[in-house]
Parts: sequence; C-alpha cells; structure tokens
Amino acid sequence: MKTLAAVTVSVPATTSNLGPGFDCLGLALDLRNELTLELIDGKGPAVVEIEGEGAKTLPRGETNYIVKAARRILPRGLPGRLIFRAKNRIPLARGLGSSAAAVVAGLWAGAHLFGTLRRSEDELEDLAVSMEGHPDNVAPCVHGGLTASVHHDGDLRVQGLEIHPSFSGVVCVPELELPTAKARRVLPKRVTLADAVFNLQRAVLLPRALATARTTYLRQLMQDRLHQPYRAPLVPGLYDAIEAAYRAGAAGAALSGSGTAVFALVEGRGAAPAAPAR
Ligand code: HSE
Repeated sequence: MKTLAAVTVSVPATTSNLGPGFDCLGLALDLRNELTLELIDGKGPAVVEIEGEGAKTLPRGETNYIVKAARRILPRGLPGRLIFRAKNRIPLARGLGSSAAAVVAGLWAGAHLFGTLRRSEDELEDLAVSMEGHPDNVAPCVHGGLTASVHHDGDLRVQGLEIHPSFSGVVCVPELELPTAKARRVLPKRVTLADAVFNLQRAVLLPRALATARTTYLRQLMQDRLHQPYRAPLVPGLYDAIEAAYRAGAAGAALSGSGTAVFALVEGRGAAPAAPAR
C-alpha cells in the first residue's frame, strides 16, 4: 500500500481547575499521546489503530473523536484512505484531558498532513473548544505550560502564565473512571456569595504563587468550594489522597479537572513546563 502523505503529532495531558480556578486554569503535563496520520492509496472509511489507553473501548472508525476532528480540517474528496495510529498514554475519564488531547491531535494532524498548516493556530484552538467544550483543557494542550482562559459568546481568550521551573507535577490515577458529564451533573446551579468569594480570593493569588514558587500558602490557595465538595462523593478516597500527598511533602494538591485523578505539585525536583501540541 503506497503512502501518499503522513504526519506525526504529539499532544500533552492536561490538568485543570488546580483547585479554585474552576473552568479557567489549566496546566499541561509531561504525559503525551502520539498520533500518526497516513493517507494511503485506496478507498474506504478511516481506520483507527490504538495502542495503550482505550485500546479496548474507543471506536475504531469514523466515530472516533480523532477522526471527527481531522475531518473538520481536511479537504473533502481526498485521493486515498486515512489511517490513524494512536499511541495513547493519557488515561481516559480521569480528569487528565484525554478528550481535549484527542480533538487537538486530530485537528493538528489534519492541519499538517500536507506539510503547511492549513489554518492559523487560533482558528484550530477555537475549533477544538467548540468540539470539546473545555477551554481549560484545550488551551494548555495547545499552548503548553500554565494557562488561564475566558470563553465568552464563542470568543476565546487565552493567557499563558508563568510556572516556576522548580515545580513538578504528580498524578495519582485511580482505576475508577468518571465521565465529565456525570461529574458536572452533580454541581449546584447556584452557589453562595461566601463560596464564590472563597474561590475568587484563591484563584487570583494562585498564579502568583505558582510563578514565584512561594509555597507557604499554596495549600490554602489550592482549596476549592465550587466543585470539589460536590464531586467528592463520586471519588471515594479523594480527601484521603489529597491528605496523603501533603503528608508525602506536596506543596499543593487538588482533584484533577473533573476527576477522578488527584494532581499534586511538588517543589524542588524541577522540570521544564510541558511543551505544547506539536
Ligand atoms: N473544568 C472542567 C470541570 C474540566 O471541572 O468540569 C473538565 O475536564
């Protein structure tokens, strides 16, 4: 079978919220999925080969998120058949941005298949958010590092934020899966002013503490009252895992995204911020 075009992309896992930054803060992690997209001689629907996470459960054809994303960007009437080879290392349904990674990988692979980028990165990012729905995962997946995002009337604003190089991230990944939709259904429609203020105070100060590695108050700054308490019943052992992280010396810890993983920041090991989609 002759290969007419091929491209390989790599996309990072992401943790979001970081405690109080619900639906706005996100951080790319050095755990990456790789995707190779080939256009081969022949006809027929796309084929998806999966190695690693989701190999037994994810769809293998046109209904796979990766394929849907790539189709949004590729020209119609391609002169061949698409083969997607995914090496998945990001655990699914654990709050580590696996669906954002799938959509961004599909879009990036589609956009680069014929060499030059067929859309601007901003357009691809907007498209990824419109397909996936969570800018706090899509933005760090696209840009790498720490990001804050605002999504307003379809308009996406992303700001890259500094994170001190002395930090490393540690994730505790339970076996239990929790789809984001289920983890959002338990959230209240209304919250008290006191709880909103509790989160605002922390979310405003957290980025400064992350940039300067001033860890004294990090434990306080990573507390949350808008989502974690409501999700805790769906994640047995959540607070025990957070406590265990602190006992082991973590500077800060929180539920990763909508769960079930727990994310902890550790100081002193040092690691470069995770690179963007590429
Ligand atoms: N911020 C979103 C949530 C992330 O917590 O529901 C979903 O991955």
